[in-house]
Amino acid sequence: MHDNATFPADFLWGAATSAYQVEGSPLADGAGPSIWQRFVHTPGLVRDGHTGDVACDHYRRYREDVALMQQLGLGAYRFSVSWSRVLPQGRGAVNAAGLGFYDRLVDSLLEHGIQPLVTLFHWDLPAALDDRGGWLNPDVAHWFAEYAEIMFRKLDDRVTRWTTLNEPWVVSDGGYLHGALAPGHRNRFEAPIASHNLLRAHGAAVTAYRATGKHQIGIVVNLEPQTPASDSPADVAAARRVDAYMNRQYLDPVFLGSYPEEEMTEIFGEAWPTWPQEDLRLISQPIDFVGINYYTRSVRRHDQTAWPLYAAVVRQPGATYTETGWEVYPKAFTEILVWVKERYGNPPMYVMENGAAFYDPPVAQEGRVRDPLRVSYLRDHLRALRDAIGQGVQLRGYMAWSLLDNLEWSLGFSKRFGIVHVDFATQERTPKDSARYYARVIASGGAVLDEPLP
Ligand code: BGC
Repeated sequence: MHDNATFPADFLWGAATSAYQVEGSPLADGAGPSIWQRFVHTPGLVRDGHTGDVACDHYRRYREDVALMQQLGLGAYRFSVSWSRVLPQGRGAVNAAGLGFYDRLVDSLLEHGIQPLVTLFHWDLPAALDDRGGWLNPDVAHWFAEYAEIMFRKLDDRVTRWTTLNEPWVVSDGGYLHGALAPGHRNRFEAPIASHNLLRAHGAAVTAYRATGKHQIGIVVNLEPQTPASDSPADVAAARRVDAYMNRQYLDPVFLGSYPEEEMTEIFGEAWPTWPQEDLRLISQPIDFVGINYYTRSVRRHDQTAWPLYAAVVRQPGATYTETGWEVYPKAFTEILVWVKERYGNPPMYVMENGAAFYDPPVAQEGRVRDPLRVSYLRDHLRALRDAIGQGVQLRGYMAWSLLDNLEWSLGFSKRFGIVHVDFATQERTPKDSARYYARVIASGGAVLDEPLP
């Protein structure tokens, strides 16, 4: 334990959302469709037929939402840009109205003293680019860099922290290997290609940023520590494979310029190509910080039926699980941040997402939503974060996932991650007890974390 660790005075306390999950009005003012627009409107793919047509109506209510952020004392807001609002066809003609939305959002945040953290891609690829192969087409790296450059030119005078991709692992695994997320493919040969092109796109955008931008750029990955269920060589190997697949597959190329070849070949066999060295040079150029999303860890055992990783999650007796079935395990949060520090040369880090879905009622009761499980999740994870700072991790900020209850992708609105409750029938916002608690953490610079929970 490092009881003396504290959060630095300039630590950024914020909350995060993503475009398709909160904005609504996906086709307004000349925007083009994204792959998520298509996915949600294909019957049977999203729970209860929910869509992002309205979502949290943030596209129209952003001013009200920014005022709410200010009331909570947030110093930062992480949001993503919808590529097909800005470029309806994914490339070519810019839609000035779409770009104008992000321009106004940034101004409004700054007027309220809130730093914008902008993510260029949070899964909503323009449908027009999917028609040309999407992340499987090597040209996508170039298309992404062109789009990124438009955003840099428009906003870099006011935005000082950029990230290229959100969670390339989820895009590849959910979108191309298991198919639960858009574009819904299930193909072992496609997943490595999608991952590699995502990373090439990241590299190409960083190159564009060095030519046009003046501030900082990084990437956001989700990390999930993997623990073997036993000492048996089969379980140890299973945990090692998943760790390579989920964690090292992305950070190794970015920081070390190589893939974890041994495990990737074990998992993908002949579907794992040999990649050109020049691609790895593009991918591994220096970034200014790394964004980490942390939700849970997994305990793994070998499972012959679990294609293609042959690893299954072992449920932990006595542990608390969230509504998405994820174990609450704050200790691994400290461990994974320290692991990043040690393996990748102590880069500056931001936690770009951390949070939990627990059951909340659809309607607030007398202006209040009691969410004690989320309050304690937040408290325990912020303490774990402080421990990581005590162990020398250069943490610059923390973004809670999520500011608002929102569209949890193919699970529709069935999972509430917000610190602010959204009544989806009326769009009324109610800060949950977790938001009130977070406001106190922020106001006290973290000191409240040592007090007993209210
Ligand atoms: C994503 C979010 C998502 C959250 C909870 C992350 O994987 O970046 O978009 O809502 O986890 O599942």
